[in-house]
Amino acid sequence: MKSTFCGWMLSISLLALVGETVSLAPTSSIVVDTAPNDVRPYVLPKYKGDAIKLTSSQTIRFSITANSSGGAFSLLQHNGKVSGWLSARPHTHGLTHEHLYCTRGRCQLWGQKNATNASHEARVATPGDYGNIPPGSIHTFQLVDPDSQLTHVFHPAGFEKLFHVFSQGEHDTHGISSPYVPILDDPSPFGPMTPQEYNRLVSLDLYAAPEEEYIPRRDFVNGTAGEAQQPWHDGPNHPPNDPTTPYFVAKDWGPKYLNTDTGYKVIQPLATPTHTHRNFTMGTIIMSNKLANESVSTATLPHHFALQMEEGQLVFQVQGYDSVKLLHGDVAFVPAGVTFSYHATVPYTKFMYMNAGDRGLEYQLLRRSVPWEFPAYPTSPGFRANSTGSKFTQL
Ligand SMILES: *[C@@H]1O[C@H](CO)[C@@H](O)[C@H](O)[C@H]1NC(C)=O
Ligand SMILES: *[C@@H]1O[C@H](CO)[C@@H](O)[C@H](O)[C@H]1NC(C)=O
Ligand SMILES: *[C@@H]1O[C@H](CO)[C@@H](O)[C@H](O)[C@H]1NC(C)=O
Ligand SMILES: *[C@@H]1O[C@H](CO)[C@@H](O)[C@H](O)[C@H]1NC(C)=O
Ligand SMILES: *[C@@H]1O[C@H](CO)[C@@H](O)[C@H](O)[C@H]1NC(C)=O
Ligand SMILES: *[C@@H]1O[C@H](CO)[C@@H](O)[C@H](O)[C@H]1NC(C)=O
Ligand SMILES: *[C@@H]1O[C@H](CO)[C@@H](O)[C@H](O)[C@H]1NC(C)=O
Repeated sequence: MKSTFCGWMLSISLLALVGETVSLAPTSSIVVDTAPNDVRPYVLPKYKGDAIKLTSSQTIRFSITANSSGGAFSLLQHNGKVSGWLSARPHTHGLTHEHLYCTRGRCQLWGQKNATNASHEARVATPGDYGNIPPGSIHTFQLVDPDSQLTHVFHPAGFEKLFHVFSQGEHDTHGISSPYVPILDDPSPFGPMTPQEYNRLVSLDLYAAPEEEYIPRRDFVNGTAGEAQQPWHDGPNHPPNDPTTPYFVAKDWGPKYLNTDTGYKVIQPLATPTHTHRNFTMGTIIMSNKLANESVSTATLPHHFALQMEEGQLVFQVQGYDSVKLLHGDVAFVPAGVTFSYHATVPYTKFMYMNAGDRGLEYQLLRRSVPWEFPAYPTSPGFRANSTGSKFTQL
C-alpha cells in the first residue's frame, strides 16, 4: 500500500521534473457509448449510441436525446441502402422544427409550406446539403444510394420517442456497428392509415398528410424539382427571412463568412435565429489546422452546444475532462456555461454545429467575421478579417 503510494508520488515528481504538466484534479473520460440520461458533457464516437431498426434494413442512432440535452434538441442518424419507398409518410409536425442534413450517399427531400399555392419543392441531397422544415411544413424523405445517411435534428427534443414506439428491434452498435442491416428483403413498413394509427401518430407530434392532398413530386431535373425555380448546386441559395417557410441549401452555396481570430474559420450558417424564433441555430465551420504559433479556440456559451464531425480531426477539450481527438461522424455535446477549447490538427477540418439558442458558437465568431465568397480559407497565415478591403486582393 505504502510503496504504491510512494511510487505514485515519485512518478508525479519525475513528471514535474521533466516539465510535464500534471493535473492533480481527477479527470474522467468524456467518451461514452450511449447518450447519457442527464445533461453533462459527452463525446459519442461515430456509429455508437442506442440504435433501433426502423425497417428490416434501415437504422436510427440516437446521438443527442431529450434526456441528454435537457429537452433542448435531439440529433439522430438515419442509415440505409437504396430504398424504393419513402422513409416516412408525408407529414407535418405541430411543435417540432426539423432539420435534415445529408451526411452520406444521396437522400431525396421534400418540403412544402401548408398554405394555399405554396410551392412544392423537392431535392436530391448529397453530403452537406440541408433542408429546413419548420412546424406545419409537409415533408418526407427517401434514401437513394447504397450507403445513405440522413442526419436529423429536432428542436425542442422529444420527437425521437416516435422511433422507439415504432422500433422493429434494437440495432447492435457495441461491436463493429454496421451502418445498417445488409438485407435484401426490406418492404415498406407502412400499411393503410387507420384512424387509430393516425391518432397514435398525432400523440407523437406527427400529422400524416392526406394521401389525396399531397403526392410527392418526382420530376427531378439535375437534382431538383419545384415551382420556385431556386438554384440547386448551380447558384447561391438565400434562406427566406421568416421562420415558417421550408427551404433547402446546397453544400457551399449558402452564405459564408471568414473569421481570423486564431487560424481561419469559414462559417456557413444554415439555420439562423430568424428561422427558429431564436430557439436554435445550425450550420458548419471549416477550420485551418493550428500552427505552432497559434492558440486554440475557446468558448463558453449561454446555451447547450453540440457538433457532429464531418472532415479532418479536431482536438476537443471540455473543462475538467481529458482532451479527445474527434474524427468523421463523432458527436460532442457541451452544456450551457461549460468552457471548452478546440483546434484542428489537419487542414480543412469541418464540423456541423448546433446551438440551443441565438447566442451560440457562430454568434460569437460572426461578430468578428467578414462575408466570404469561398468555402476555402486564405492560402497563407496572417490575414486579418477585420483589416481594410485592400487586403482581400493580396490573397
Ligand atoms: C430518460 O431518463 C429517465 C431517468 O433516468 C429514464 O427513466 C428514461 O428511461 C430515459 N429515457 C430514455 C428514452 O432513455
Ligand atoms: C392561388 O393561385 C390561383 C391560380 O394562380 C390564384 O387564382 C389564387 O388567387 C391564388 N391564391 C392565393 C391565396 O394566393
Ligand atoms: C421557442 O422559445 C420560446 C421562448 O423563447 C418558447 O415559448 C417556444 O416554445 C420555443 N419553441 C420551440 C419550438 O422550441
Ligand atoms: C394543412 O393545414 C390545415 C389546417 O390549416 C389542415 O386541415 C390540413 O390537414 C393540413 N394539410 C396537411 C397536408 O397537413
Ligand atoms: C442540367 O444540367 C446540365 C449540365 O449542367 C445543363 O446543361 C442543363 O441545362 C440543366 N438542365 C436544366 C433544366 O437546368
Ligand atoms: C504565425 O507564423 C506565420 C508565419 O509562419 C505568420 O504568418 C503568422 O502571422 C503567425 N501568427 C501569429 C498569430 O503570430
Ligand atoms: C481586429 O483584429 C485585431 C487583431 O486580432 C484585434 O485586436 C481587434 O480587436 C480587431 N478589431 C475588430 C474591430 O474586430
